[in-house]
Amino acid sequence: MPTIQLRNISKRFGSIQALEDITFDVKNGEYLCILGSTGSGKTTLLRTISGIIKPDNGEVISNEKNMSDVPVEDRDTVYVPQTYALFPHLTVIDNVCFGPISKGEDNDLAKKRAMEILKLVKLDKRAESYPSELSGGMQQRVALARGLVSGAKMLLLDEPLGALDARLRIELRTELRRIAKENGLTVIHVTHDQDEAMSIGDRIMILRRGKVQQIGTPFHVYIRPQNIFVANFVGHSNFLEGTVMKRNSKESIIRLRGGNQVKTDDISHAVEEPIVIGIRVEKTRIFDHPVDAVNTLRGELIKANFIGTFIRYEVKLDNGDIMAALEPSDSGPAKLQLGDRVMLTFEPDHCIVFDYPTLGLNRELEVF
Ligand SMILES: Nc1ncnc2c1ncn2[C@@H]1O[C@H](COP(=O)(O)OP(=O)(O)OP(=O)(O)O)[C@@H](O)[C@H]1O
Ligand SMILES: [Mg+2]
Repeated sequence: MPTIQLRNISKRFGSIQALEDITFDVKNGEYLCILGSTGSGKTTLLRTISGIIKPDNGEVISNEKNMSDVPVEDRDTVYVPQTYALFPHLTVIDNVCFGPISKGEDNDLAKKRAMEILKLVKLDKRAESYPSELSGGMQQRVALARGLVSGAKMLLLDEPLGALDARLRIELRTELRRIAKENGLTVIHVTHDQDEAMSIGDRIMILRRGKVQQIGTPFHVYIRPQNIFVANFVGHSNFLEGTVMKRNSKESIIRLRGGNQVKTDDISHAVEEPIVIGIRVEKTRIFDHPVDAVNTLRGELIKANFIGTFIRYEVKLDNGDIMAALEPSDSGPAKLQLGDRVMLTFEPDHCIVFDYPTLGLNRELEVF
């Protein structure tokens, strides 16, 4: 049974449509990550679910009850805001206990539980510090502890790891998921970090300009992006424009801009239809010599960036398009120089074929 159902939620601020016709369900005990760039409506969505913001249209249903007239404090939901509003005159532990004690919980019991939660977020040693004595990341963890201590079954976390350094971020995200699963919590976790969303969400939802683009398991969204925007936002893809030239019951031949032909497994587009092919950069291989491959495109190497485990190559194809390939640093062609003639190859089953967008490819790729 779903814990939370959103039905056709819309919210406008003046001329800005912050949320547009949002409908989705979150199941009991599920960890849902909402992934979107800045200004895509993530905070507005969480605040709407929590009841802080009233939507212009639509409703939030919790356990089959319409929440429209239920005040924030009567919902079994805790919203942990993006900017951690801690009480500056209270110590860390008192900040964490504040909610439970003001709701009438026994002081000692509340402190004991708060201490356990502080251990979880690795701040037990700073229990007696004041917020001004903490780093940004520590303050964020206090805010998180305040949410966890409430005992609410549904947590709405707004960029809960945003102020942490990369290592702690990775460590804490696993902890967060573990805490949620062990305590049977339902979590909606907002982030703009795709690795974070992919690694901890049971499902992820991609939001763009207030509209849901896709919702599904990380694997499904990665393998079957529903549109060009998602294919580019979750992982990085190359996009090639073309027209279907031939099609049989198993494959299509696409004529790319400039005349090259490539084969794809897609059979959902008709002959003469304009399309865009998406190919993941990590599924694109680069060679400095001709190879026996179904699809080969030639061009000139214009960039090579060493990014630790991988090298990202950028190639200007003969038709002027730019295509990238990601190769493990310890494999791939050893001594490529900028300006070298290279070959890019990819398999027909790694081509995702999209309808050609009405407003053109570039508009589809815009993040903001
Ligand atoms: N109270 C408000 N008044 C006017 N406009 C608002 C208000 N709150 C949000 N907006 C606008 O709504 C849009 C969505 O904002 P929101 O804060 O939900 O984005 P976000 O996805 O959380 O972004 P970020 O990643 O930067 O936190 C933005 O264009 C923002 O300027
Ligand atoms: Mg926000």
